[in-house]
Amino acid sequence: MSESDQNSAAKVRRSIPRHVAIIMDGNGRWAKQRRLPRIAGHRAGVKSVRRVVEQCIEHDIEALTVFAFSTENWRRPQKEVGLLMELFLTALEREVKKLHDHDVRMRIIGDRSRFPVKLQNRIGEAERYTAENRKLTFTIAANYGGRWDITQAVRKLARAIEGGELQADQIDEKLLQSHLQLSDLPEPDLFIRTGGEQRVSNFLLWQLAYTEFYFTDTLWPDFGKESFSAALDSFASRQRRFGRTSEQVERQEA
Ligand code: IPE
Ligand code: IPE
Ligand code: MG
Repeated sequence: MSESDQNSAAKVRRSIPRHVAIIMDGNGRWAKQRRLPRIAGHRAGVKSVRRVVEQCIEHDIEALTVFAFSTENWRRPQKEVGLLMELFLTALEREVKKLHDHDVRMRIIGDRSRFPVKLQNRIGEAERYTAENRKLTFTIAANYGGRWDITQAVRKLARAIEGGELQADQIDEKLLQSHLQLSDLPEPDLFIRTGGEQRVSNFLLWQLAYTEFYFTDTLWPDFGKESFSAALDSFASRQRRFGRTSEQVERQEA
């Protein structure tokens, strides 16, 4: 490879996010447009998840984190919540083997203690079964909330203080971060929200501090390969400055 080829390969690599986080929104509206029950939208949404996992593998993205059920989603009609739990279970049963065959490590973040026991067991099995896989870390946020995440980390630190193993002055950002979910992954580079809403809805609050945001009106069940490419193109066109000036960043890149 010539030096200029190496440089351009490095540039292409630099513009691909290592970690993509997605709020998969718009399933209900997708179903409504078709006069179908909301659950039909959620079912179609599972297919979009599969497509995006494939796209991440194709683009050598290291981590994908998707928001499947928020701590606030318990406020939905009981029937929808029940059907979502069933769908989660069947999707797990159907997809885990395929994910494993693609060398995908699967993890669930969130407070799983509120889920049906059968679902909790399946989640544990899926995580153990795929634990050694390395191609892509695929995380599903279920009964997850950014505030819950920060609170559970703080509780762990408080316990350590109570036990005399830690002093308040020793708490810094790095230590708090190490107790959050996803602490072993690079922070998300690209955040995508489908369905037209432009809000974070209590997703990864701490971890999104320097993430690039991308919003699209496309409803989640319609989000396919082209939509994902458009998001990646948008990401590639941005200059991430992390507080520095663009001149500093350009000098560093040269
Ligand atoms: C997102 O789609 C999926 C979940 C929150 C479980 P919605 O169900 O929120 O779809 P809309 O926003 O009603 O269209
Ligand atoms: C956010 O979607 C949560 C998930 C996609 C799981 P919602 O549709 O629940 O968000 P809000 O309530 O409109 O902000
Ligand atoms: Mg919604």
